[in-house]
Order: sequence, then structure tokens, then C-alpha cells
Amino acid sequence: MNNNKTFSDIKSEFPFFKKNRNLVFFDSAATSLKPKVVIDAVNKYYQNYSTNTHNLDFPLAIETKDIYESCRQDVADFIHSQKNEVIFCPSTTFALNQIAYSLGQYLKEGDEVVLTTCEHSSLLLPFYRLAQEKKIILKFIDVSTDGLITITNLKKILTKKTRIVAFASMNNSLGTINNVRELAKIVKNFKIEKKSQADWPFEKVLVLIDGAQSISHSMTNVSQWDIDFFTFSAHKLFGPTGIAVWWAKAKWLDLMQPLILGGGMNGRIYKDGKFTLLDPPDRFEAGTPNLAGIFGLQAAIKYVREIGIENIAQYERELKKYALEQFKKHLGDKVVVYNENQESGILLFNVLNVAAEDVANYLGHQKIALRSGNFCAKLLSEVINCASSLRVSFSIYNNKQDVDHLIAALQKGFNDGGDFLNEFFN
Ligand SMILES: Cc1ncc(COP(=O)(O)O)c(C=O)c1O
Repeated sequence: MNNNKTFSDIKSEFPFFKKNRNLVFFDSAATSLKPKVVIDAVNKYYQNYSTNTHNLDFPLAIETKDIYESCRQDVADFIHSQKNEVIFCPSTTFALNQIAYSLGQYLKEGDEVVLTTCEHSSLLLPFYRLAQEKKIILKFIDVSTDGLITITNLKKILTKKTRIVAFASMNNSLGTINNVRELAKIVKNFKIEKKSQADWPFEKVLVLIDGAQSISHSMTNVSQWDIDFFTFSAHKLFGPTGIAVWWAKAKWLDLMQPLILGGGMNGRIYKDGKFTLLDPPDRFEAGTPNLAGIFGLQAAIKYVREIGIENIAQYERELKKYALEQFKKHLGDKVVVYNENQESGILLFNVLNVAAEDVANYLGHQKIALRSGNFCAKLLSEVINCASSLRVSFSIYNNKQDVDHLIAALQKGFNDGGDFLNEFFN
């Protein structure tokens, strides 16, 4: 890590813990906390700039626009892409809808889109709508019990009608990290059937990667992976909410239509109903962007780079390993863990014979914030064979004491009768 900083110093960089001193925060997979440098950057926009990127009539506004574009470059460097392939938008959800919408214009009845049952609803539903509207066929790769896509199962599902393969580089429930490069290679080597260039102008099967979870836990290299689309949200990368990125290979951007129309992206508008659009990336950024968010995202990328993605991943893996050891030692067969072998910072478990929601509520009263349910992956029960579970997601501001608190709180629950309902009646 740069600056001789250690992970024990990091927690103090998150103002959240000043107000929530004793809270153990295990919900970073939903949204990560923000370090002071990110909060300062957001404030800096409002205090010192507050101008619109669509106005370039005075020097301060030009400076704002320059910062906006320098953030685009920082994102490009971070994910290893070209600058003009990076598009800003409000969320991963928006990004996935945008991509599905524009690809939907080329999809025809009987074309196949391949997904997995571990995916977030923001990846599934835009394609479900296309399935309803265009009668495309949705297919699901068989994943292992801990969510992994294997080459064998991927090969099995591809057919001459496959047009898109879409999945998360790291899923948000089991924390499974898929080998994107290896899987994309299989997809790209697959020959599809097409009648003409107009039939499917994208040459091969397209690979869309939802990077919402992996962005802060593993290295992203869209060029090396040989994929077509990638998306992520700043708020899972220690950045602000309301700002996200989608990336597409430059040659595809020219084939895509924007989901949203408005200012800052059009060329000319004629009275006969015709209009022209600016080139990408502007074409896809209608309206006033979330400029404070951009300032914050830029600071977040700098922050993460200084710590180092590999250091983050290793630290989180160590915490998970420690948690697994403590679970075994103190809780034994009172709990079931669903993703023991996944080397990421997510631990998915259940207390046997107790509803996950009851445990989560009980732990909440013990000042432990974690998540119960299916985490917007509504088909997850197909993989782990239970409707609801508990997710601990580790981040850089967690430590072994946090794990010890979790174990102690679970033990207290067992000592309180084991139904984890006491807090409802107190
Ligand atoms: C894997 C995955 N995809 C997509 C999303 C949606 O991200 P957002 O809510 O920022 O649009 C999430 C958020 O939880 C996620 O974890």
C-alpha cells in the first residue's frame, strides 16, 4: 500500500464511524462507505464550481468540463479502455437497461440471450422485457452450487442462435468471481449463424459483463478480457451514489441508440421531426450530469488506486478466512455456509432453522449491519436451494474484531433461546 498506510489506519478515514462509532458495517456489497477524500471532492464541486458542463462560456465552466473529462480518462485507465468508450450514467441499473435497449433493436424472434440464475434483477429484467416484446429466448447457464460458470457448462448452452452472453464478473450474493477472460474467449470463438451483416452487425456473440460488484474487489481489464460491454456503479467503489459508468467497444457505440434524449447530446433539430445526434460519448449523456458525483468518483478511483485493488482483495479474503475459522470453532453445525470456497469478501450463510430476516433484525439490534434475503438476485434459490440467507460483505474498514462481534452476537442469540426473536418483543 502507498503512503505506508495500513488497514488498521483506514477505518479512521471514513467519517461514517464518527457518528456510528460502534456499528459493525457488513453491508458493503449493497453500498460501500465513503472516505473523507470522496466526501470532500463532492463538496468541492458544490463549493468551488457548481457550473454546468453544457455551458462553456466562462473559464470556471470550462474548468468544470475539463475535470469531467479528466474523470473519464481516469475511469478509462482504471478499467483499461479508451477514453471515448466510457459513458457516465446514474447507475448500473440504468447502464444495463441502456445496453439491453440498444441491442434489443437488433434482436429478433428466436434469438437467444444467455444469463445465469445468480444475476441481479437489473441485469435480468431488461432482457426479460425483450423476451416478452421481441420473443427472444432466455437461457440460463448451469452454475455450480457456489455460483461459478464453468467452461463446460458455457459451451453446452451456446447455439447458432446465441446473440448475447451476460453475467456478473463477481456475483453479489455468493461473491463468486468468474474468470471473465477465459469465458469470453469461449464465447468469441463460437461461430453463429447470420444471414447478413444487417441481421446481426456485431460479428460475433456479444459479451456483457455486470461489474457492479467486482469493480472494487478485483482488477478490471476490458481490453484484455475481449468483452463488449462492462458496467459499474461508483457507490460500490467508495464513491457517491447516483453516478455510474458503462463501457462499450468504440465500434459498437456507433451502432447504438441512446435510451434518453435531451440536451447536450443532439446536433440539429429540424421542424420536420428529424434530428441529429452528437458522436459518442456525448450521444449517451443527455441532460445535466451528476457533476458532484463525477468529482467524487474521480477521488474514489484515486483512493482505491493508492490502496491497490490486489491489496483490498487479499485483505477481504483474509477476513473471510478468519470468519470461516471462527464460525467453525464457535458455531459449528448451528450455521450453514453456502460459499466457503469462494475466494472473495462475501460470506453467505444461514442459522439453521431460523428465518434469515429474524437473524438480521436481531443482529441489527446488536449493532451489526448486514443483509438478509436474496439480494435482488431473485433466482438465487435455484442455486442455493433456499429462499433467503444472510450476507456478510467485508470491506477495507472491517477488521477481525468485527468478526468477533458477529460471533458473540450470534452466540448471544443462541443463548437467548435460539429463535432470534427477543428483539421483536423487547
Ligand atoms: C451485481 C450487481 N449488479 C447490478 C447492481 C445494481 O446496481 P445499482 O443499484 O447501483 O444500479 C448491483 C447492486 O447491488 C449488483 O450488486
